[in-house]
Amino acid sequence: MTEKNTAQWDAGRFVKTLAYFGVIPFIGSISWLQQLFGSSNSSKKATPKLVLVAGATGGVGKRVIKRLQQRGYRVRCLVRDAKKAKEMLGKNVELVEGDITLPATLTPLVTNNVAAVICCTGTKVQPVEGDTPTREKYYQGIKFYMPEVVDVPEIVEYQGLNNLVQAVRSQLSQAGKKTIFDFTKPSEDLKETWGALDDIVMGGTSESSIRLADNSGLFAGNVSVANSGGFVSVRTRNFDPPIDLTGFSGIELRVKGDGKRYKFIIRSDAKWDGIGYCYSFDTVYNIWITVRIPFDELIPVFRAKTVKDCPKLDTSSISSLQLMLSKFEYDGALNPKFSPGTFQLQLESISAYGGQVLPKFVMVSSAGVTRPGRPGINLEEEPPAVRMNDMLGGILTWKLKGEDCVRSSGIPYTIVRPCALTEEPGGKALILDKGDNIKGKVSREDIAELCVRALEQPLACNETFEVKEGENEIAVGDWQGLFGSLNLVRT
Ligand SMILES: NC(=O)c1ccc[n+]([C@@H]2O[C@H](COP(=O)([O-])OP(=O)(O)OC[C@H]3O[C@@H](n4cnc5c(N)ncnc54)[C@H](OP(=O)(O)O)[C@@H]3O)[C@@H](O)[C@H]2O)c1
Repeated sequence: MTEKNTAQWDAGRFVKTLAYFGVIPFIGSISWLQQLFGSSNSSKKATPKLVLVAGATGGVGKRVIKRLQQRGYRVRCLVRDAKKAKEMLGKNVELVEGDITLPATLTPLVTNNVAAVICCTGTKVQPVEGDTPTREKYYQGIKFYMPEVVDVPEIVEYQGLNNLVQAVRSQLSQAGKKTIFDFTKPSEDLKETWGALDDIVMGGTSESSIRLADNSGLFAGNVSVANSGGFVSVRTRNFDPPIDLTGFSGIELRVKGDGKRYKFIIRSDAKWDGIGYCYSFDTVYNIWITVRIPFDELIPVFRAKTVKDCPKLDTSSISSLQLMLSKFEYDGALNPKFSPGTFQLQLESISAYGGQVLPKFVMVSSAGVTRPGRPGINLEEEPPAVRMNDMLGGILTWKLKGEDCVRSSGIPYTIVRPCALTEEPGGKALILDKGDNIKGKVSREDIAELCVRALEQPLACNETFEVKEGENEIAVGDWQGLFGSLNLVRT
């Protein structure tokens, strides 16, 4: 044995490493061996998406909530009066108080973890002679009552919409990207999630750590080849539940390194010693770079040996991530950019990229928003909201400005412009159109369903369209076909 292979091995650090990753339930037990090679909890399902519904107590909003729940979403309701909302919506929904016209109320309590928004807010409009507490006259949408606005449309439809958009913009505008770790936002989770996993587990003496420094995560330490070692790494504990990256193309790292070659390892198996899917990447000394790791280019590896005929990574259930600096590439080949000694790799973020772009902000607007003042419009033939736009505080004009805030936000959106809303049963055929010309009516039930389905349809992304019901009673079965028809209609 050479001298470098007889360095002092630190048994205490070995035990601490295994304990961190939950491999040793308690010191002295031998069950860690079973855990090491056995148990898996990868059968747990990923958490469903959380959708924020604004205008949750409204005629469309309350129906949107029901349908979201039926389709398995988690729902958070933005309401102005939680007590009133609880009476109306029951106990089974999360309620947060807020008012879109008051930006200070749109706190992280409202926006945290929200994956999409369906906005069904609207200026309160009612018959001049008043309405019933359940707003029957206003809601039925067939018989005409002289309307009046109760709130100021500029403040609700435009400023309010803009406030809501701004509150969620940064988290929803990264189309096709999902941030997994953002090291620029310090959080205690780092210590709880990431831990060092060095060659100590094989008798080596290398030592590394990850900590927050300079607005980034700093993976640093010393790598030594003593005792036939030669690797350092940081690995996450198993995610619980696992992360679902279905539909994404790969992982994107934002890193600044030291010119060395590192490995990124991703696992979909919660076993400690299972197959890791690896990708080697080179860093550029002291320069921030973006590294893209396509899932298709990952190499399945078991204990540094490549595995032939291995199934592809199950991206629907990612259980852990690891970053490594190793003397070895794969199957005994040497890392050409390796040198023992100190190293450092700074991390800004780890994200998934190339995901399907789906609408993340669905706005219920109104047919007619571009008609007030449009040349060639015969007001006699137009619906009341268009005819009386001025009398109603320019409600449609301000709705159009609200739409503009959504369209220019960078958030993938769908803007739904219903014709006259009714309380009639849903389940009708729907007709979508562009150009703001159609007239008709449509059930709030069907609009709610349309909004929820839009969240799942790439073809609904960044579209603005009008909608009315057709003559026949055939409910929409083919949502993809319906949204696909938008490419065919005139603009
Ligand atoms: N009526 C029609 O024929 C027709 C036609 C086309 C489009 N539209 C539009 O379709 C949308 C949905 O209609 P709807 O009948 O469901 O409306 P709605 O019943 O009047 O509901 C409006 C919702 O917006 C909420 N809201 C109002 N101001 C708010 C604020 N400042 N902050 C937070 N929430 C606020 C209301 O909450 P509160 O319970 O606290 O008041 C209510 O939940 C509206 O934008 C409407 O203008 C209507």
